[in-house]
Amino acid sequence: MPRKLFVTTALPYANAGFHIGHMMEYIQADTWVRAQRMRGAEVNFVCADDAHGAPIMIAAEKAGKTPQQFVADIAAGRPQYLNGFHIAFDNWHSTDGPENHELAREIYLALRKNELIDVRSIEQFFDPVKGMFLPDRYIKGECPKCGAKDQYGDSCENCGAVYAPTDLKNPYSALSGAAPVRKSSEHYFFRLSDPRCISFLEQWTQDGKLQPEVGNKIREWFTKSEDANGQLTGGLGDWDISRDAPYFGIEIPDAPGKYFYVWLDAPVGYLASLKNLFGKRGQDMDAYLADPDVQQVHFIGKDIVYFHTLFWPAMLHFSGRKVPNNVFVHGFITVGGDKMSKSRGTGISPLRYLEVGLNPEWLRYYIAAKLNARVEDIDFNPEDFIARINSDLVGKYINIASRAAGFLSKRFGGRLSSDPGVEGRLLLDTLRSHRSTVETLYEEREFGKAVREIMQLADRVNEYVDQHKPWELAKQAGQDDALHDVCSVCIEAFRVLTIYLKPILPALAAQVEAFLKVPAMDFADAARALGHHTIADYKHLMQRVDAKQVDALFEAPATPAMHPGGEAIADEISIDDFAKVDLRIAKIVQAEAVEGSDKLLKLTLDVGEGTDPQGRPITRQVFSGIKSAYQPQDLIGKLTVVVANLAPRKMKFGLSEGMVLAASHADGKTQPGLWVLEPHAGAVPGMRVR
Ligand code: 2FM
Ligand code: ZN
Repeated sequence: MPRKLFVTTALPYANAGFHIGHMMEYIQADTWVRAQRMRGAEVNFVCADDAHGAPIMIAAEKAGKTPQQFVADIAAGRPQYLNGFHIAFDNWHSTDGPENHELAREIYLALRKNELIDVRSIEQFFDPVKGMFLPDRYIKGECPKCGAKDQYGDSCENCGAVYAPTDLKNPYSALSGAAPVRKSSEHYFFRLSDPRCISFLEQWTQDGKLQPEVGNKIREWFTKSEDANGQLTGGLGDWDISRDAPYFGIEIPDAPGKYFYVWLDAPVGYLASLKNLFGKRGQDMDAYLADPDVQQVHFIGKDIVYFHTLFWPAMLHFSGRKVPNNVFVHGFITVGGDKMSKSRGTGISPLRYLEVGLNPEWLRYYIAAKLNARVEDIDFNPEDFIARINSDLVGKYINIASRAAGFLSKRFGGRLSSDPGVEGRLLLDTLRSHRSTVETLYEEREFGKAVREIMQLADRVNEYVDQHKPWELAKQAGQDDALHDVCSVCIEAFRVLTIYLKPILPALAAQVEAFLKVPAMDFADAARALGHHTIADYKHLMQRVDAKQVDALFEAPATPAMHPGGEAIADEISIDDFAKVDLRIAKIVQAEAVEGSDKLLKLTLDVGEGTDPQGRPITRQVFSGIKSAYQPQDLIGKLTVVVANLAPRKMKFGLSEGMVLAASHADGKTQPGLWVLEPHAGAVPGMRVR
């Protein structure tokens, strides 16, 4: 009976492209799935966009799109990454799909029936301008401990203090700037503290299936301890699963204006994606999941263990569903030692990696070579990357084929000899005897060990080549048979190594299959010899990494985002640099041509600087090179934007006290046109533009 596996990776938020951390997880899971398939398992490997939540709703609003359009646009960008790195999901769906709406509600209703849902009133910060409750990350203020300004609602970046948003001094909404008010509303809770949940989770998390460090961490979460005041704290608390409108999410049944918190419906998205896939195939997902032989496993990062080992199994169990068989947790990836943060860092851009011509399988190989089954961070180190690809992958493995294949096609028409000789047989037997070790290492997600094992086998093959020196046999008379046998052993050895590397290097393996003229290979094919068989001419299978390509990966792109006129985006500046420029809304109270100038108009601007002793508005005089584009009378009364703190400039016609902002192409001669900036209605003179 083939093993049956339902495998997922964490559903990425649909608010941005992928970073190297996403790619690491996909490479890990994809490699594992491919290895399982090569052992005969039937796998359903799915993912989806995590579409809901306040941040996506807010980002969509900023982009001027509906949340649905916003996440659809993000989804449209996914295939470049997935195809680019040979990540072979069977399905990619969205948590906003109809399957997820239905499943999330079903699960909730089952939990409610099981008396595991509570409704309680809680008090939270509310943005009176936006008319919405503020998620913690949208509340800022002064750190209650060190007083640092502009700190987030959960912790201080300056002193590291952790606190509740209500502890902030002078809090303000990061959305509107308004001071938030406390407001209470009814929230729905999943009663995780219920003794039934606790005892189920103690069992599910501590039966030895999870990685030891994950099990230990969870034990800490279970443990209640006394705080300084002698109060018992810790232990599993109930989980707030609702959010008030406006929210982009799934409406809670029988609770108008209440939505599931994104983390409630996100993991349900695993099932929704599977259901969507089964729907396309005309198969029944419920029947599939009812099969006790189906093993459900989730690959995730260490930051979301709580959701996947407590909330998710409890949701499934108490709604009468299959619980996960395992959750495989990995660490983060750093680049050159720098921490990759989800919100901040980008590390290596995966698309940039492809754009500069780096081979996606180099990254797969490198990441695999560094991964193990523990929750450890790994580092992408450029020198190490180059060394591992060039000396190991190409130098040890690819070279075996390139050293032998030429002789076979030139001298023997590509036919293989089926007599390996004593040493050749020994070598091939050794290679084949490591198959179960290699398979087990894949199964255990010890990819680094698998790669080391395979490279040691490649070393043996190279020793064999060095001992038998085909290049010398080729020059000696009467050594044709020996040359034929040695080269055939090399090709057979190369074939076995290719099978072992195939989960990591699927595209290369496909090229090798074409070169060897064999059908797609599984692990079992390692045991069979090719025997009498003719292979194709050797074409170079893999280049070495050029250090320049790796440099290019870390440099600013050669073709930066272009202005329509071909003007490159200027060097990056900090927010502090930008803050030095004081931009103000100005009213053009007067505009006139300047005698003797065919470029300039003289503008009189009200920049909101109050009135003079006679009660007249204080104005400034600005000479602006916009005569070619505007009739002075058309500008009078209009609002625009000026650089208000530019040093005054003495011009031929008088003093210019600022600069009006206008858009134009880089080369105004070939692409004429000039457009003065004008704010939307509502802006008034003197407002700062920031
Ligand atoms: O942390 C994240 O990026 C979440 N979007 C992961 C969700 S995993 C699953 F629950 F959907
Ligand atoms: Zn602080």
